[in-house]
Amino acid sequence: STTAIFALLAGYLLGSVPFGLLLARAGGKGDIRDIGSGNIGATNVLRTGSKLLAAATLLLDAAKGAAAVLVAQRLWPDAVHFAAAGALIGHLYPAWLRFRGGKGVATLLGILLPFLPIAAAIYAAVWIGLLLLVRISSVAGMAAAASAPVTAVFLGEKSLFPLLLGFALLVVWKHKDNIARLSRGQEPRVGRKSK
Ligand code: G3P
Repeated sequence: STTAIFALLAGYLLGSVPFGLLLARAGGKGDIRDIGSGNIGATNVLRTGSKLLAAATLLLDAAKGAAAVLVAQRLWPDAVHFAAAGALIGHLYPAWLRFRGGKGVATLLGILLPFLPIAAAIYAAVWIGLLLLVRISSVAGMAAAASAPVTAVFLGEKSLFPLLLGFALLVVWKHKDNIARLSRGQEPRVGRKSK
């Protein structure tokens, strides 16, 4: 239907704003895609040495996901799923960056926040907990993403399972370079200099 298309497009437009790229550039760090992992996410922005820019990237990448869901809840309440999917796809595959976007960990947290707040809280706990424990951002992020469909089932929101499983699979798919580095034992830890 038309509302689904509107919601998907609005979500995509919001999700595709590459805050990490824009903030790193504005902060005089050059093109974030030439640094560290080349990713446009907060973890890689942290590798520029700026905690402030990294925190702002995390916040804004999450906020755009939340904004997409909030806008849809008001304007197209029957098409919130589409706005959520649009926002995540926009972040992962932004047309403006030749469809080479981020990995979705922050944006998915933002999407979950207004959508399923308890799942968002557990997601954040898994993410922060593993980050403190293993200090590898990709591991913490993938585990957090994987927690969402599981949490939905435990909350009795079985109908959300396929959507959230799809989101988690997309996030893991976007981490394929990280998975390769992990299997070689070469994934950098947060708080240490990367090559
Ligand atoms: O959110 C992205 C994170 O999980 C991994 O980032 O730069 O280490 O590939 P990066």
